[in-house]
Amino acid sequence: MTGKKKVLFIGAGRMAQAIIGGLVKKEEFFIWAANNGNQERLEYVRDTYQIDITRDWVYQIDNIDIVVLAMPPESHDQILKELYRYVNGQLIVTVAAGIAPSYLEDRLPVGTPTAWIMPNTAGKIGQSMTLYAPGRYAKEQHLHVIESLLAGIGLFEKVTEEQIHQLTAITGSAPAFIYKVAESLTEMAAETGISTAQARKLVSQMIFGSAAMLRTGEDPAQLTGEVATPGGSTAVGLEVLKDYHLDEMLKEAIEACRQKSRD
Ligand SMILES: NC(=O)c1ccc[n+]([C@@H]2O[C@H](COP(=O)([O-])OP(=O)(O)OC[C@H]3O[C@@H](n4cnc5c(N)ncnc54)[C@H](OP(=O)(O)O)[C@@H]3O)[C@@H](O)[C@H]2O)c1
Repeated sequence: MTGKKKVLFIGAGRMAQAIIGGLVKKEEFFIWAANNGNQERLEYVRDTYQIDITRDWVYQIDNIDIVVLAMPPESHDQILKELYRYVNGQLIVTVAAGIAPSYLEDRLPVGTPTAWIMPNTAGKIGQSMTLYAPGRYAKEQHLHVIESLLAGIGLFEKVTEEQIHQLTAITGSAPAFIYKVAESLTEMAAETGISTAQARKLVSQMIFGSAAMLRTGEDPAQLTGEVATPGGSTAVGLEVLKDYHLDEMLKEAIEACRQKSRD
């Protein structure tokens, strides 16, 4: 895989657009998009990102290096049946929950390089924490291409298929826990008499700053210590969180997400 790569997105919804939005800035790829027949959406994607669209991707496939399946898990079997007939060595990547590389490999010709990528919703503003797991036939050059795809939507980390199953609760679901905390704190801030917009500004910047501190690589326990002087007001608040078993609550919430996704 050398030179400018040709990538076909099957699915042109939110996730495809998040990735395409990052890719077009880099000019490393020729991009095509296909979908399930929503012509208006396909034209929107063409006009917004200045990419090519196709109503019949099957005729394009010989000319393609990478296929990104950006559609619901339940649409995969049908598309994989078609891909089985037409692929000859293209890298096949899915972003769908639960569709691991082994699932793709079982439904594609032996030797087809595959990967599973699991972004989170912050991908749409280029701030995803994306996990990816290459299939058994993916080689070094394929990893390089996958990482180029992912760099446009945030940070990424290569893990195993089994680890994606375990870690999606943290990178994919836990943002909702953070938003829940934000909702509570915003309500309490607004109760002081400031506007909702002001309350949101306060809370979002507080979380953003905390995340930026964490991104320096400092130990969260150390950072906690820097905020909470022993015997001070923050320390008293932390005691309440401890009394309510915050750690256990989080463990249970993460485990519940994992269990649901296994089911
Ligand atoms: N949104 C996220 O933050 C997020 C995060 C991680 C993973 N994902 C995964 O990403 C995948 C797509 O999610 P999304 O949020 O982008 O969904 P979406 O906005 O609903 O878009 C789905 C796209 O799939 C297309 N599609 C459905 N069935 C198809 C078929 N048989 N052939 C071709 N195209 C088909 C739809 O076509 P039409 O345009 O014709 O309707 C649409 O363009 C899902 O598997 C989801 O689990 C999403």
